[in-house]
Amino acid sequence: MAVMYAFCDQKTAPSGQAVPKLGTAWQGPAQVFCLPAHTALPAPPHPGSRTADRVARQESSVLHVMGSPQQPYLQTYRLLLRPLITADAQILKALAGDRRIADTTASIPHPYQDEDATWYIQHSRDQFALDASAIFAVAHPEHGLVGIVSLSRPTGSLQAELGYWIGVPFWGNGFATEAAKRLLSYGFETMGLQTVQGRLFVRNAASSVVMSRLGMKKQRVVHRATEKWGTGEDEEIWQTSLCEAT
Ligand SMILES: CC(C)(COP(=O)(O)OP(=O)(O)OC[C@H]1O[C@@H](n2cnc3c(N)ncnc32)[C@H](O)[C@@H]1OP(=O)(O)O)[C@@H](O)C(=O)NCCC(=O)NCCS
Repeated sequence: MAVMYAFCDQKTAPSGQAVPKLGTAWQGPAQVFCLPAHTALPAPPHPGSRTADRVARQESSVLHVMGSPQQPYLQTYRLLLRPLITADAQILKALAGDRRIADTTASIPHPYQDEDATWYIQHSRDQFALDASAIFAVAHPEHGLVGIVSLSRPTGSLQAELGYWIGVPFWGNGFATEAAKRLLSYGFETMGLQTVQGRLFVRNAASSVVMSRLGMKKQRVVHRATEKWGTGEDEEIWQTSLCEAT
């Protein structure tokens, strides 16, 4: 299925189609993915969501045959956590490139360039092959890639840091909570983690809701822990452990 980008009012759809509850994408002769009108229009990404998942499986099997460990697919009620693939680069750039994503994250660059996307996709593979960080694309059956969840750690460490972002058109649907919850169980059950930490800017109220819904506990606040847009950001450190999670 082809995928097209459109600038649109999120309450209306071309050809009068009703917009489903999410209000950001709908199925027609082609899958149309709405971005806010101020978003720079990227070239259409190659895959539709099902195509992306199929390509992900193919790329992942090739890596497996070549000797890298195969990154699994993790399912939730509505979402699939899958390895990032080369063909995700354009949609990754379009979603991660929104300033609102960089605004509350410590390490996502802005502006977000093509090279940032290709580097990150390769990085996710390298990290998985080293049994270090686990980085997953969050894919929705209709909308394709909607965000990223990750557990970052040095190889073999029993502690990892949880990271996540969801593309702006998909905020407020519970996707971050649903995807991160699945990744946490993977971290404890399969990566052998004992503790998982999360760091968030004090002003990031949405992320604070996500952390508490994941059962994480706020440990402390670190003043001026990170610099963002030239200003020191206070950070909250959240944590959960294997015993709390089981
Ligand atoms: C933080 C983020 C991942 C949340 O994604 P999401 O899929 O919208 O999260 P969820 O829907 O699972 O939960 C968010 C909750 O916070 C609530 N929320 C959002 N903004 C809020 C605010 N300013 N004050 C209080 N609650 C807020 C939402 O309403 C939702 O609660 P609800 O289900 O009761 O409506 C997303 O906003 C994002 O990607 N932000 C930019 C990157 C980022 O900050 N990443 C985390 C770094 S620590």
